[in-house]
Amino acid sequence: MKMDSVREDLKVVKCQHVSLEVSDVDKSLDFYRNFLGLKLTERHLANENPAIPFEMAFLRLGKQHHDIVLTHDPNKKYTEKSNISGPVGIHHYALECPNKESFDMYLERAINLDLEIVRGPVLHSAFQKGGDGTWGENWSFYVLDPDKHRIEIFCEMANIDSNGNYITNAGQVVPNLKVKEI
Ligand SMILES: [Fe+2]
Repeated sequence: MKMDSVREDLKVVKCQHVSLEVSDVDKSLDFYRNFLGLKLTERHLANENPAIPFEMAFLRLGKQHHDIVLTHDPNKKYTEKSNISGPVGIHHYALECPNKESFDMYLERAINLDLEIVRGPVLHSAFQKGGDGTWGENWSFYVLDPDKHRIEIFCEMANIDSNGNYITNAGQVVPNLKVKEI
């Protein structure tokens, strides 16, 4: 199953949209539009298309049709997310801010809107001053949406160069650290 023989230019290029199951589309739309500034591309009722028995709302960050999709099954009895028990699922997903100023703005908005910040702000680094000893070299904070989907808001994540070095946002090579697979 190794991908060694597959042409580099034919491989998938990025992780793009996420579709979240939500208990109340209006409530979630309010959160995603008003806190994060996403725009509604289109919204559809369940069974509007015979193949789709779900209510769906497509939200975009920029020009692409959708980056986040809210999905709601009107026949499903939803229960609250729990940290104690439940099925496996996505732990969190992340939205990237273009810079630290943007990150700080979102942090301030989250505080002002009295959202539930479950972690951070924190600098995920064992190298940079003030870092928490974890991985990625990025600033993050984690906030819950109305259904307790955990969203990471982050900026300044390290890049991996062609030699496997970690390059911080400031352009520094992190010493004594290399990726295992280039
Ligand atoms: Fe993360």
